[in-house]
Amino acid sequence: MNQRKIVKTITGMKTSDGAGVNLTRIIGSPELNMLDPFLLLDEFGSDNPDDYIAGFPYHPHRGFETITYMLNGKWQHKDSAGNKGKLGEGSVQWMTAGRGIVHSEMPIQTGGLAHGFQLWLNLPKAKKMIEPAYQDIHADQIPILKEVFGTVKVISGEYNGTIGPGKSHTPVMIMDIRLSPESEITIPVVGGWNAFGFIYEGYVKSGESLTKGQLAVYNTEGNINFKTNGTQASIYLVAGEPLNEPVARGGPFVMNTRGEILKAFEDYQNGNFT
Ligand code: FE2
Repeated sequence: MNQRKIVKTITGMKTSDGAGVNLTRIIGSPELNMLDPFLLLDEFGSDNPDDYIAGFPYHPHRGFETITYMLNGKWQHKDSAGNKGKLGEGSVQWMTAGRGIVHSEMPIQTGGLAHGFQLWLNLPKAKKMIEPAYQDIHADQIPILKEVFGTVKVISGEYNGTIGPGKSHTPVMIMDIRLSPESEITIPVVGGWNAFGFIYEGYVKSGESLTKGQLAVYNTEGNINFKTNGTQASIYLVAGEPLNEPVARGGPFVMNTRGEILKAFEDYQNGNFT
């Protein structure tokens, strides 16, 4: 099968969110507003506690899911639906905001490296107002396939018959690929799905050369191939079926119309997010 071609390469934008967490916004920025069904991708990564210690105190969401993948560091999640979870190294927190949730995401550690990703996955129109839900996925629940070329950690979706634990409302594939030096991997991706690969360590060739900090957006047909030369590389690879529905964004809410966004602010102000 053909290899997918890169249609766009971006590096994201340094910004600050929450109570002053320094991060790089890769999707959800002027360079790439969204890649249906993905609304946002942030990479947080620093060994300076000043960059993350303030965390993300209580704030609301409605209409989508947040998927947080910790590479290093320890954070704690609490929400208005009564869920609590500790995010350790290699773990995933998958929060479905649905009709509305208020949560906090705060670092437990006070020093050392905190590195990870937060991805926002849109909910289809028919499911935006479902009850909030939470999947606390520990590192040891996520399968890591060891192959000659390196490892593939399947967070959600399927690779080579292995299914990841993260359950989504529309079909997606989320994986963390570590490639050894002088290695190659080809990942099948369902035709018509949007896909991106973010290189968070090393260099790879994927048709074009990509380096740490770059996100490649692919066309929608064919497999995705990565090759390394003399160094190892790590790639956060994500793909999903586009929703092809109107998107209205307003801060922490993502709905289909402007009116629904205004209603979300009103409901939140009236204390209707429980
Ligand atoms: Fe949040």
